[in-house]
Amino acid sequence: MSNVFVFDHPLIQHKISLLRDKNTSSKEFRELASEISMLMGYEVTRDIPLKEVEIETPMGIAKAKIVSGKKLAFVPILRAGLGMVDGMLKLVPMARVGHIGLYRDHETLEPVEYYCKLPDDIANRDVVVLDPMLATGGSAVDAVKFLKNHGAKNIKFVCLIASKQGVKRLTEVHPDVSIYCAAIDEHLNDIGYIVPGLGDAGDRLFGTK
Ligand code: PRP
Ligand code: URA
Repeated sequence: MSNVFVFDHPLIQHKISLLRDKNTSSKEFRELASEISMLMGYEVTRDIPLKEVEIETPMGIAKAKIVSGKKLAFVPILRAGLGMVDGMLKLVPMARVGHIGLYRDHETLEPVEYYCKLPDDIANRDVVVLDPMLATGGSAVDAVKFLKNHGAKNIKFVCLIASKQGVKRLTEVHPDVSIYCAAIDEHLNDIGYIVPGLGDAGDRLFGTK
């Protein structure tokens, strides 16, 4: 599992525990999801290239480094992925945001696509797919396939909680895609929910149900 990164930073682990707690309100859930995403984003963007520039400080000229023109796109999978966009954009405000709408059919657990809007130049951008949950892996596999069909080449997948099964499926189908998460949980229940997980991420974010 060389391209799977599990964040063991204490602050991320602490916030994930609060997120899992069934007594955490939607307001707190949204805040935590955003904060964790920002903390994860720090590491996810570690390989952004830099270029050298000269900056005039009040004391003279400094040879300094700034992010080079490399283009990033964040692509949340609707709807729960929306909860991770804010945190990422705080770190990289110039990134573009695409949206892929998928929901899992409750009977088959297969993802159904209902919306897609990507930046025109998605093929020339490094893409970070955002979805808090990697359960069976069906949604992630389809979203990545979709992005590849649109020409995207360098794709990372960032989630909050993954299942062993989801990680296996995504790495098998898309071995070139690195997975970043804060926890890999043991198993799925018979309706495809991660156990212990955190429940339904979309419902908890938006207060539905
Ligand atoms: C959730 C979650 C993922 C998907 C994960 O979305 O946000 O997109 O399920 O499950 P999978 O790995 O088995 O495909 P859901 O379908 O509940 O839609 P929602 O975000 O609109 O609530
Ligand atoms: N989607 C969720 O929101 N939670 C799960 O545990 C699985 C899929």
